[in-house]
Amino acid sequence: MRNLIFASLVSVFSFTATLAIAAGPSSKLDTVDIDLTDKASLQRGAHTFMNYCLSCHSASLMRYNRMAKDLGLTEAQVLQNLMFTTDKVGDTMQIAMRAEDAKRWFGVAPPDLSVIARARGTDWLYTYLRTFYLDDSRPMGTNNLAFQDVGMPHILWEQQGYTSLNDSGQLHLTSEGQLTPRQYDAMSRDLVNFLAYISEPSKLQRLALGKWVLLYLAFFFVIAYALKKAYWKDVH
Ligand code: HEC
Repeated sequence: MRNLIFASLVSVFSFTATLAIAAGPSSKLDTVDIDLTDKASLQRGAHTFMNYCLSCHSASLMRYNRMAKDLGLTEAQVLQNLMFTTDKVGDTMQIAMRAEDAKRWFGVAPPDLSVIARARGTDWLYTYLRTFYLDDSRPMGTNNLAFQDVGMPHILWEQQGYTSLNDSGQLHLTSEGQLTPRQYDAMSRDLVNFLAYISEPSKLQRLALGKWVLLYLAFFFVIAYALKKAYWKDVH
């Protein structure tokens, strides 16, 4: 029995240790403070996603009408401003590009982004979006600090401009974009907020409901305990 307990403790410990290692060099990542209750930010993020990402990346676990409801938009608004690949609001977010074509163009097919925020974490995404830099050795002419030798080009170059890596491994802006660095950070944050939202659309409901479930369990514990005492009163 003791061995069994020891073995399970060891396995739990080594599992958490593996998780920590799998998370990678988190100290190098920039941190982002997202807010899933900020609907204006989510709407801006959705706008960026539909305009700049959905051409290559699908989000096939997410439906347009669900997004409309959660983001406080009407279906007509979504249809007019955010839907470019289909005209049915009940559809999931698909792309027209075929996987084999994508593979030919980029070397690898762009992955579905439905749950990318859970797979990579929001800090990683925030860092990734902001650390594309010029690199002549790459087929697209750019590389990325968070994703070495990435197959994706720097999609938001018009907004951010281009950065280069100096000898001490830091990025500096070599050609300015339409946005200031602060504005580009804000744009990236909104986009990451949106990616976090689609990776678990029910998160806010889950947290809200969770409190009531815990309260109910606490309340029920008292009743169950009183009942147990009453039943066992005469047994000694
Ligand atoms: C021109 C096509 C294209 C567009 C547009 C595009 N991507 Fe990508 N993206 C790719 C490709 C190809 C990869 C795979 C890179 C690899 O594995 O080397 C990728 C990879 C990624 C990854 C990393 C996935 C992983 O493996 O962890 C993320 C995150 C991502 N893209 C986010 C975005 C976001 C956000 C946008 C919109 C701003 C966007 N992409 C726009 C082609 C594109």
